[in-house]
Amino acid sequence: MPAAATPVRHEDILVGFKPIDDLHREFEDILTALNDPAEADYAEHLLALHEHLLRHCATEERFMQQESYSHLARHKRAHEQLLESVSEVRRRFDSGDVDAVRRYAADLMNWFSIHAQSEDAELAGYLRGIG
Ligand SMILES: [Fe+2]
Ligand SMILES: [Fe+2]
Repeated sequence: MPAAATPVRHEDILVGFKPIDDLHREFEDILTALNDPAEADYAEHLLALHEHLLRHCATEERFMQQESYSHLARHKRAHEQLLESVSEVRRRFDSGDVDAVRRYAADLMNWFSIHAQSEDAELAGYLRGIG
């Protein structure tokens, strides 16, 4: 039996730069709703997640552009993969694959915490340094 993944703690997704941390808290709330078995409206929660992520990624990319951040291209590629993954899971949901949504929702926080601790934390450190 595989070992259970280590649960992600709330602090693991905070990076110490308020505009980004506000987005990360919002992401956590939306993902919690998507993962709540009592909240069965996947269509609504997937749409909320998709809209949030479009805004979340665009906001971080705007900071990177405004401040001439040197790792913009790399960070943006990670965002593009994330946005493609949410588009894909919405397509699967539309074709009736609810299990794909459950798996995606269950895995997403692990992906997100790694992104937060690497790309977003590095960006936050840069933005704090010039602020
Ligand atoms: Fe982020
Ligand atoms: Fe990011």
